[in-house]
Amino acid sequence: MTHTNENERLAQRLLDDDTPFVKAVASLADRQEVVASENIYASNGMKLLNKGAYLSGHFYDHLVAHKLLKPIEQSLVASQAPCASTLVTLAHAECRRIPSLVPLMEQPDLLERMLGSLGGVKIPAPLGLRLAVMRDDRPKLFQHSLIVAMISVVLGVRAKLPIDELQALALASMFHDVGELCIAPELLADDHRLSDEERRYLFTHPITGFLMLRDFHDLPAGTAKAVLQHHERLDGSGYPNRIPAEQIIRVTRYLSVAEFVASLLEKNGADRRIGMKLRLNDAKFDRQAVALICQLLNDAESKSTQAMPGEQLMVGFSQVRMIFEGWSTFQRTLSPADKEGIAYLVERMGGLRAMVLEIGFDECRLQELIPMLESSDEVEVRTELSVLFDELMWQFRALSREIERKIFVQGWSLKPSRRKMFNQWLAIVRQFAGEPA
Ligand SMILES: [Fe+2]
Ligand SMILES: [Fe+2]
Repeated sequence: MTHTNENERLAQRLLDDDTPFVKAVASLADRQEVVASENIYASNGMKLLNKGAYLSGHFYDHLVAHKLLKPIEQSLVASQAPCASTLVTLAHAECRRIPSLVPLMEQPDLLERMLGSLGGVKIPAPLGLRLAVMRDDRPKLFQHSLIVAMISVVLGVRAKLPIDELQALALASMFHDVGELCIAPELLADDHRLSDEERRYLFTHPITGFLMLRDFHDLPAGTAKAVLQHHERLDGSGYPNRIPAEQIIRVTRYLSVAEFVASLLEKNGADRRIGMKLRLNDAKFDRQAVALICQLLNDAESKSTQAMPGEQLMVGFSQVRMIFEGWSTFQRTLSPADKEGIAYLVERMGGLRAMVLEIGFDECRLQELIPMLESSDEVEVRTELSVLFDELMWQFRALSREIERKIFVQGWSLKPSRRKMFNQWLAIVRQFAGEPA
């Protein structure tokens, strides 16, 4: 048996024995709705869960005690699984927390263009569940995937890749390390010394990820393949299959450069040596992708956000609170059909809410921040909040432009009776985003 086959067998075994994943799904179900989209059976035919039933943590023992008839992710739906536009929103925010990426993220229209080209990508429910689990159970891995996705797409846009390749690149980036969900988190802890066997588990993660994606034929071509190849290198020094350069597809070439850069940035923050490291590894990576990222990082003069005065932050965040509160009041007046008509907006506001919560900021608890904002010693807190504030401005600016474009192109999808309230809300958004009234 060849080495390749051995690795594939191991990956398949890790995927079949999905205890770490089932455990993570069960604990996710204690925090958010996870519903059976069909009856769940054990392989001996016994019914374990009815269609429509809510999963909860105590099903864990029940689920792992039986061999399931079908892989569990095929029968469960996470209600808060992030959709593509939420991912773009989160990724943009995540990258703005890395100082040397801030100028890249501030390119005019970047966010709008990404939402335009990637926002509509459909993520199949089983993969949505994987993402929901990653976000809940492996937040660092989720953040890493967001950063890789953002850098990949910025590179792909700069390289003028066709839209289908750009979509494949974005999805493959988001899922490149999804295979790690099959590895028990204890093995990945920093202080754990891996045994040889465990190291093999780790080295098969591109294959496990590939197996998870391979059967979704609606994904843009190349998505699963790029996941499989993301640690391969052009000089044949990569893994798991040490394939030669000519077999490495273009999507992979951009993904691997982005992944390498993201890992360095996550470790070192602003790092001028990235260009040098890439050039030292010149034989491993795609020349054009390397040239583009070096150019982008050079162009981006490192400018870090200055702490804004506490008072200004208070005023700004009160507006943010008004935006979110106004939105939920407005939403309550809408019928399901109304919501359908502005589904993009419902989704985008959901994404923004998720982003704000992800960062750990709850605008409803604004009052608690006042003493900190008033104290001049809390520069660090104010700097953090200033970064968030800036990010929200970018996001809401992109949103208000998107709304205008939609209304201009498609006309109003809201009934006249709803428009007044909507316009009042939009005026607050525009004011906050510094757009002309
Ligand atoms: Fe990675
Ligand atoms: Fe990886």
